[in-house]
Amino acid sequence: MLQARELIATEFDRINARIVEKLHSRVDLVENIGQYLIEAGGKRLRPVLALLAGKITQFNAATHVDFAVVIEFIHTATLLHDDVVDLSELRRGRQTASSKFGNAPSVLVGDFIYSRAFQMLVELNSMPVMQLLSDTTNQIAEGEVLQLVKAGDPDCSFKDYLRVITDKTAILFAAAMKGSALLADADKQETDALFHYGLSLGIAFQLADDVLDYEGDASVIGKNIGDDLSEGKPTLPLIEAMKKGTSEERTFIRKAIETKSAETLDDIVAIVRNTGAIHHTETLAKRYIQQAIESLSPFPESPYKQALTDIANFALARKL
Ligand code: IPE
Ligand code: IPE
Ligand code: MG
Ligand code: MG
Repeated sequence: MLQARELIATEFDRINARIVEKLHSRVDLVENIGQYLIEAGGKRLRPVLALLAGKITQFNAATHVDFAVVIEFIHTATLLHDDVVDLSELRRGRQTASSKFGNAPSVLVGDFIYSRAFQMLVELNSMPVMQLLSDTTNQIAEGEVLQLVKAGDPDCSFKDYLRVITDKTAILFAAAMKGSALLADADKQETDALFHYGLSLGIAFQLADDVLDYEGDASVIGKNIGDDLSEGKPTLPLIEAMKKGTSEERTFIRKAIETKSAETLDDIVAIVRNTGAIHHTETLAKRYIQQAIESLSPFPESPYKQALTDIANFALARKL
């Protein structure tokens, strides 16, 4: 991750400056909330990926910096909305904007940041990129709604779960890669390769996130553990534990999902571990990471390709 950032250090600094500049609003609350979340940091993984995709396909710096900001803004807006619907209280090691400022300001500032992203996108003046990102944000919204429909449903299938994580998370990673390739006028083979890298990486990233919701350390990840359980989210650790566990364990997990309660979190953590459900989820994440790395095969060896490989491995091993 750090080496990747060194490769794009100049552009990365410009991204952060552009973010602050573009958050400007005549209404103080918009800036306060936007800056509150942005200043807390975050890994900036998606803009780093977008910049590396630009580098590997030989890019025009100014356009790609703004494109990377658009991607981070879309991500930030989804987080503002997501913490409202997930009733989450901790994000990036701080109180969520929704707990600090309230739900209404979080939703409205989320809308502001979404629409700011689209204003910037228009300035990039590329109809294919505009189409890509309007499709992507629509798909993210659809994924979040499907997840909401499946919350509290212990019969959610693995197929539905995969649909949810592809739509709510992976598609933005894929768009970060593909959009940069489109802006660089890369050929179809390279554009598709980068899209598939992003998609596989994004799926693995969310699988890892769903493990961290049971196994993570809140002080490292900066989010509370057990949030998924208290929302009754049937993520893969639970789906797999219900498949492998005893009938008592199955009943126990079903009840926690149906009642959307994290009261029995410690027992559930023990079950997801002992049934091998955590290991199963990690193994699947590893398979997607391998696919991501294999997707890069059309590109010759370069520091950028190495950085994309390192990021894929980081996504798997991450604790934050
Ligand atoms: C959080 O994404 C949302 C998920 C898709 C799990 P990140 O883990 O990339 O969040 P930040 O930007 O680093 O805080
Ligand atoms: C993140 O989903 C996906 C989006 C924000 C669209 P989660 O709800 O699983 O992510 P965290 O755990 O809140 O970061
Ligand atoms: Mg959430
Ligand atoms: Mg969510």
